[in-house]
Amino acid sequence: MEQQISGEKERVFETYGRHVSSAKARFFLDVGIDFVFGRREGPFVWDMDGRHRLINCHSNGGVFNLGHRHPAVVEALESALKTLDIGNHHLVSRQKAELAEQLASLCPGDLDYVVFGVSGGEAIDTAIKIARKATGRRGVISASGGYHGHTGLALAAGDPKFRDPFLSSSSDFRQVPFNDVEALGPLLDADVAAVILETIPATLGMPIAHDDYFMNVARRCRENDSLLIIDEVQTGLGRTGRFWGIEHYNTVPDILVSAKGLGGGLYPVTATIIRRDLEAVFHDDPFIHISTAGGADIGCAVAKKVLEISSEPAFLNHVKAISEIFIKGMTGLIGKYPVLLSAFRHKGLMGGIKTTSADLGPILSKTCYDAGLLCIYAAHDPSVLQFLPSLIINADLAEEILQRLDRAFGVTCEFMGI
Ligand SMILES: Cc1ncc(COP(=O)(O)O)c(C=O)c1O
Repeated sequence: MEQQISGEKERVFETYGRHVSSAKARFFLDVGIDFVFGRREGPFVWDMDGRHRLINCHSNGGVFNLGHRHPAVVEALESALKTLDIGNHHLVSRQKAELAEQLASLCPGDLDYVVFGVSGGEAIDTAIKIARKATGRRGVISASGGYHGHTGLALAAGDPKFRDPFLSSSSDFRQVPFNDVEALGPLLDADVAAVILETIPATLGMPIAHDDYFMNVARRCRENDSLLIIDEVQTGLGRTGRFWGIEHYNTVPDILVSAKGLGGGLYPVTATIIRRDLEAVFHDDPFIHISTAGGADIGCAVAKKVLEISSEPAFLNHVKAISEIFIKGMTGLIGKYPVLLSAFRHKGLMGGIKTTSADLGPILSKTCYDAGLLCIYAAHDPSVLQFLPSLIINADLAEEILQRLDRAFGVTCEFMGI
């Protein structure tokens, strides 16, 4: 379906296609999504011509947990800009020290030390580097279809589709099915430095693990002297109704990674949070791992405010209350559209709408767009439409989202003749 666009928007598409990505520009025009990110505020984003408003139910995987341009976070950034810059990553920084202390106080067990970074992939790379140095081993086991980023070690621990065009294959990196502790057992040998898992693998379509899965993985890791790295890039910071998603599973990892929402969508900052004793890997040479803009002083001021807001008990209760509205509403919609929908996978506001076929995720992404919702299907299981509204929405907006989903599902049935 070729989209006709004109004026300023056409110019942006044309320039983007000429200098950023010709394939992306063509793809979006071909699927009829001629959207150019314009005004953004709270749970909403507008097309640059102001005509199409979307309720953001994708939130960039949690970047916009607090909505777009949360006023208190904008204020923290503006205030930091009056006196700070990124600082010098070699020197001691008050902002880094205070943010690390705050993160440690929000973590279970003795996750006391923080290594800062800029992107989630970098933070995962750091986690794997620390695990390797601490154990003196090389092996890393991850979940098939999981996703940890596109940088070096994160990419190596990810899906072959993203990895194989760029890296040579290495027996150091092996994968097992998610939520299958028995499959993990035989691979846990004397060379395994770490098992790395997302608490809820978003790219895999939000499968929800058995209640005892992570406890059993942690036990097996301990028995094998391997470390457990938990990727909370999407599930952290209140998304699931608890501060960290892994809290639902009574498991304390050896390393926990936070990114995306930590920067409030305003200044990228990430944290690799490690057990107190693991900090010894930096005793010989504290400069063996550095990141020029990681934990920038300005970014720390932003993250501090994000943590303050999202760790409030009232905030977490709000997430739980809104998620109840969706659980009820989705149950109704699954009953109304059984040919389309089969389940709603969720913990708090980390959700996935499981459909009845792999064609439906992409189709629903478009019909949702037409119905005013930004929703994107899971890349490694396109039968699932990811559902991550911002955590600050109120009950009325939750009901409106359900009505718009209803409309999108109805149009999809018409379109498919079912
Ligand atoms: C679970 C998870 N881990 C890591 C990453 C990598 O984060 P970044 O894109 O900031 O490198 C992502 C990004 O989508 C993610 O979803």
